[in-house]
Amino acid sequence: MNLIKTISFPLLGDERGSLVALEANTGVPFDIKRVYYLFDTKNGVSRGFHAHKKLQQIAICVKGSCRFLLDDGVEKQEIVLDSPTTGLLIEDMIWHEMYDFTPDCVLMVLADQHYDESDYIRNYQEFLRGAN
Ligand code: TYD
Repeated sequence: MNLIKTISFPLLGDERGSLVALEANTGVPFDIKRVYYLFDTKNGVSRGFHAHKKLQQIAICVKGSCRFLLDDGVEKQEIVLDSPTTGLLIEDMIWHEMYDFTPDCVLMVLADQHYDESDYIRNYQEFLRGAN
């Protein structure tokens, strides 16, 4: 199964520079309720190490690059995000880890729900029990 689902956002550039527009329910396949971004990630740090019970997210590396590991409990697949026009879909019940952040990396994430700690599964064994 292909766990890596990406969305290409049109690059609206002209001689002044580049622009990408993200719209709910058109390019982004859900209603955006929350946006957060990770930046100044310290050298050698890995983040994530959780899955969500219901949340859908799209991660876009708007600057720099980082590596994602996605795991559905059966398979693990990796992708390098290094383009502000590429969104990575992180569906519910996908364990994800992020690492190899470049010092300039700004990783923006769009989410279809407000922050809710009870939606997180932070224990890998618990994730495997729910995934299989
Ligand atoms: P967390 O999701 O654990 O980070 P990681 O992506 O590395 O798994 O979030 C780190 C902290 O930030 C945690 O205490 C929860 C808080 N947080 C919010 O308050 N709102 C949010 O939207 C997010 C994503 C995190």
